[in-house]
Amino acid sequence: MKSKNQAIGIFDSGIGGLTVANAIAKELPNEDFIYFGDTAHLPYGDKSPDTIRYYSIRIAKFLLDQDCKMVVVACNSASTAANKLLLEFFQDRTHVINVVDPLVDACVKLKFSKVGIIATKATIRSGVYQKQLKEKQEDLEVHAQATPLFVPMIEEGFVHNNISQSIIKNYLSDAGFKDMNALLLACTHYPLIQNSIREYLGPDIQILESSELAAKAVRETLEAHDLLNPKKQTGDHKFYVSDLTESFAQTAQHFYGADIDLTHLPLWD
Ligand code: DGL
Repeated sequence: MKSKNQAIGIFDSGIGGLTVANAIAKELPNEDFIYFGDTAHLPYGDKSPDTIRYYSIRIAKFLLDQDCKMVVVACNSASTAANKLLLEFFQDRTHVINVVDPLVDACVKLKFSKVGIIATKATIRSGVYQKQLKEKQEDLEVHAQATPLFVPMIEEGFVHNNISQSIIKNYLSDAGFKDMNALLLACTHYPLIQNSIREYLGPDIQILESSELAAKAVRETLEAHDLLNPKKQTGDHKFYVSDLTESFAQTAQHFYGADIDLTHLPLWD
């Protein structure tokens, strides 16, 4: 039996999922959460589906061992590769939320005629976004493109300078994006370059990203199962990473938007 005062478990390939953790902290300030970033194995975006599944199952098991009432897969590459398997393994024991479904649902509600999707190679190659969008809106035209340079670029802090502008232009000038009404940012890191992408695309193309949508999905699921924590104090937030360096510690502040302490947890030893 799950109870209201148990923590929410959140995991990602590394620190990018902190954008989702931060949205959850804002949406649900009373909730405790345990965040696990698999910094020893990032990036997941270049890994095979089987490898991502293996890591994801191990991490979800760790979060359940910590008695979490829910597991949030805050990583698009893990959500697209491992969601099905995570449900098979764990849905009897917990609620599993991924970052794909809320973004797809929000997108189809807006009834666009053409959308672009940008993400890691693993997410695009999985075809999960493309398939789910087409299943829910048959006439939607979708152009999906991997934009793998964005992750290291953003982690190096290049979010609004001539290098980031040139890489954004290089990717988004692809003819496949012509006439799109909206662009889906299907990677945890991309909200950090949303303003630069907006500058490049101009005001008429909508930009959708999943962190706030995922946080709302967490709220709805907890509400539906009467698992919202009613306590009137700020939630306790723990941040674990499988490898800890000075640079991860610094980058984490940018992604979370506040000072946080990362704790090294060598899950793979
Ligand atoms: N968190 C990953 C995602 O959302 C991006 C970083 C990685 O490739 O590990 O797909």
